[in-house]
Amino acid sequence: MGRFSLTEDLGIDLGTANTLVASRDRGIILNEPTVVAVYKGTNEVILDGMGVGLEAYKMLGKTPQNIIAVRPMKGGVIADFEITEKLLRYFLRKAQQGKAWVKPRVVIAVPSGITTVEKRAVINSAERAGARKVYLVDEPMAGALGIGLPITEAKGSMVVDIGGGTAEVAILALGGPVVVTSVKVAGDDLDEGIVAYLRKKHNLQVGPQTAEEIKKTIGSAMPLEQERSMEVAGRDTLNLMPRKTVITSEEIREALQEPLRVINRAVLDALEAAPPEIGADLIETGIVIVGGGALLPGIDRYLSKSTGIPASISEDPLTAVARGTARFLEDLDLYSSFLSEGDEVG
Ligand SMILES: Nc1ncnc2c1ncn2[C@@H]1O[C@H](COP(=O)(O)OP(=O)(O)OP(=O)(O)O)[C@@H](O)[C@H]1O
Ligand SMILES: [Mg+2]
Repeated sequence: MGRFSLTEDLGIDLGTANTLVASRDRGIILNEPTVVAVYKGTNEVILDGMGVGLEAYKMLGKTPQNIIAVRPMKGGVIADFEITEKLLRYFLRKAQQGKAWVKPRVVIAVPSGITTVEKRAVINSAERAGARKVYLVDEPMAGALGIGLPITEAKGSMVVDIGGGTAEVAILALGGPVVVTSVKVAGDDLDEGIVAYLRKKHNLQVGPQTAEEIKKTIGSAMPLEQERSMEVAGRDTLNLMPRKTVITSEEIREALQEPLRVINRAVLDALEAAPPEIGADLIETGIVIVGGGALLPGIDRYLSKSTGIPASISEDPLTAVARGTARFLEDLDLYSSFLSEGDEVG
């Protein structure tokens, strides 16, 4: 199927924080926050186009009274079906640019830990949003293919995907996954760690968007060559008045310790569950980190230190899973053992 076909199959990374759509020929077509702005008390998306993705994200935490910005995915799974379906419908339409004469087949990356019922929900949402046939693939597996790991070959390799809602670990060998684990602790929990820390240690109340900004600006998993600081604006928890405080990167690192420990535990659990024979391969190929959490400075050193295996950050970690979903479309038969599929719909 080339560019003259009546449809183009699509890969989707339906993430807690970001949704990406990709295709074989066009690469990443769309990359926007998983946020929808609706009229309060309804599931009605505001001003078509203004209400989904980036524009809605800008409204988080500062919407006018009659509008709320909703994140319909939580912990990697659909928390709000109707809104997720609307988001998918809007993104599918936008990605297809009016050339959808025939409904596309789609490969969707989902957290490896989701239940059968949750899988069904993703399939149903995508079908109602306009997909002809839906294939699901575990996120870390899509990440592995996205960064070019030879997932159908025998060699052992390991991928850690740290997203917004889940952290996932996959160890591959003998042409398939040998261990896949997942915890519902990831970027959102790092943000929450910062919120809690500032409240406790500085009597300062900040929202999740501010916490995320702090994490991206001065967050780290390991000591930095040059420690940093920034001024943070929030509200005093005692007198409720606006206040500014200077926060250091050492403090933020402390705030991130607990969620980082949980993620680290998942990585160690996966390694312990893997057959010992592939240890030599893993020491050679190392751990590759994908997902937005890979951008936290020092996360590679942090995981290397705890596992004793070299860890590296993938190129463009935020798009790795989406690029992988598009690569599955190149040969659905070859990769069938990695995919679970829904029924074809008309
Ligand atoms: N520079 C950065 N430093 C630290 N964290 C970052 C940085 N940039 C993005 N992130 C975090 O990465 C997370 C989003 O990553 P990603 O898009 O991979 O998640 P997702 O795929 O939407 O979520 P999930 O896979 O859990 O459903 C957010 O928590 C975001 O704060
Ligand atoms: Mg993800």
